[in-house]
Amino acid sequence: MDFFQFSVPTKIIFAQGISKDFSAELEHFSARRYLVVTDQFLNQSGLVAPIIEGMKSAGFEIVGVFDEVPPDSGVGIIEKGAAFAKKNSADGIVAIGGGSVLDTAKGVNLLATLGGDLVNDYSGTQTINSPLNTLIAIPTTAGTGSEVTEAMVILDEKTQTKLSFVDSHLLPSLAILDPELTLGLPAKLTAATAMDALTHAIEATLSVQKSPVADALAYQAIALIMEALIPTVSHGQDREGRGKLLVASNLAGMAFNHAMVGVVHALAHTVGAVAHVHHGMANSILLPYGLEYNLPQRTAEIAALALVLGVAEQGSSLKTALACIKKIRDLRQKLKELCGLSCSLSEAGLKENQISLIAEKAPDDGASFYNPRPLTSEELLPFIQRAFSNL
Ligand SMILES: [Fe+2]
Repeated sequence: MDFFQFSVPTKIIFAQGISKDFSAELEHFSARRYLVVTDQFLNQSGLVAPIIEGMKSAGFEIVGVFDEVPPDSGVGIIEKGAAFAKKNSADGIVAIGGGSVLDTAKGVNLLATLGGDLVNDYSGTQTINSPLNTLIAIPTTAGTGSEVTEAMVILDEKTQTKLSFVDSHLLPSLAILDPELTLGLPAKLTAATAMDALTHAIEATLSVQKSPVADALAYQAIALIMEALIPTVSHGQDREGRGKLLVASNLAGMAFNHAMVGVVHALAHTVGAVAHVHHGMANSILLPYGLEYNLPQRTAEIAALALVLGVAEQGSSLKTALACIKKIRDLRQKLKELCGLSCSLSEAGLKENQISLIAEKAPDDGASFYNPRPLTSEELLPFIQRAFSNL
């Protein structure tokens, strides 16, 4: 450990039902006219209306609801949302949704505040020079942790590539964690999103940019997920479990916002782009293989997960590290039995003739730069082949 820094300017508030009334917190910000950014399903499901009512009854104005965010949001939607915000003179944004909604809202807030061309002026790292309007993030899934990350990943429709924007100004001003909003998530989506959070946490502890603060957050995230995932997937109305998963996703978000992720995400991003496999499911399938790939460089760090994973074998040996990887495999198998979450890339829809393309493209993904073992197509190939058939 030579150097690390840590900062979380986003205020986080957790409580069952808090999204219906957090108006006292809004008094800390100058914004009075909020635009709600969400998706059509959430807007029609009745989840959004009580949040709007709570804000209105406290005297805040809701100038409109922009509910056109698709699952894989892009530049065009952000431009449309920003134009809508400007037309209605919004001076703040409330984002209600999963990762795609939260990332879109970051982009809408950026363009609505500063104007300019999203791709040419802001893509890349630390490109924003001044603070943005107030952004309130209210996650409705427990996976991405986007409410506490400074990144947004969106599709450039013109080139069909995913663009990354990373800047501390993109961080929400306030994150409202209300487990009640996640009660209706289907079991399979609950499992997939939690496995995304678990992967954020585990990869943060193995990264070349790991730090003691990120480790602390990641270990607690892993412990909470191991405690709550199976009970919550089994009983979706388990409020306590929903709360633990939401907090775990948040902690894992803070951890990987600083330590970054690695080979599992590099592969999952590529599998997502090539075969449109759900991000959380792809991470779940690939997690044991990514750990095996990093085993030579990170034996002790993987073994150090034993306590929070609930592995009986303790210590820093290869045997303990292998027991940790087996625990992840067993968790995936249990999730498959409970809710049908796939354990192989073939089940998830990847074609056998796409395996070599995944191996070829994954080393170019941004996540690969933080992985402890360099990513090469030749060395990745056998791991992807085994993930294809769950071997
Ligand atoms: Fe992820």
